[in-house]
Amino acid sequence: MNGVTVIDHPLVQHKLTIMRRKETSTASFRRLLREISTLLCYEVTRDLELTMETIETPLTEMQAPVLEGKKLVFASILRAGNGLLEGMLDLVPSARVSHVGVYRDHDTLQAVEYYFKAPESLDERLVIVVDPMLATGNSSIAAVDKLKERGARNIRFVCLLAAPEGVKNFVEAHPDVQVYTASLDSHLNEKGYIVPGLGDAGDRMYGTK
Ligand code: URA
Repeated sequence: MNGVTVIDHPLVQHKLTIMRRKETSTASFRRLLREISTLLCYEVTRDLELTMETIETPLTEMQAPVLEGKKLVFASILRAGNGLLEGMLDLVPSARVSHVGVYRDHDTLQAVEYYFKAPESLDERLVIVVDPMLATGNSSIAAVDKLKERGARNIRFVCLLAAPEGVKNFVEAHPDVQVYTASLDSHLNEKGYIVPGLGDAGDRMYGTK
């Protein structure tokens, strides 16, 4: 599908299968999500630009590569995005963090915004938006709308599961934002859940249901 990269690394796929199982405990679900998110982070950052800098090893001076530009931003769509955020920060501890609070109205399935906080100079940073589930696409589209309003220009979107309906909506709204996912699932059900999916990601990671 255009605009979507499916990360088919065997470790990602194996961990995802365990997460999907309904008997997987909250503790295991959270640990696996953190592990998977480091692997997704590795893939979504694999083409970041490098610049050379002069350093001294104990033996000699050398030109060595470091990441170019300002610190990148992870933008977590609350609350489930925080599950992906943890592992991303394990891998890029100096990244800046934005929190975007949008929830899905259960009746209309539309995104309602209630919180937004982001670092300075979004226009000069790569912004990696994280949310485990790209379902209808409504909250993801709203979050990216908001980040663009605040100046973000270079955006990528990372999720665990995506539904074809959500990907279609998202790519139509934001054709400049590449989507990275561990799986493109079959469809959405009448309640807006991804099928086969893994249930409610927030509830499964926090044990709220
Ligand atoms: N949000 C979830 O947590 N799960 C879904 O299947 C869809 C949206």
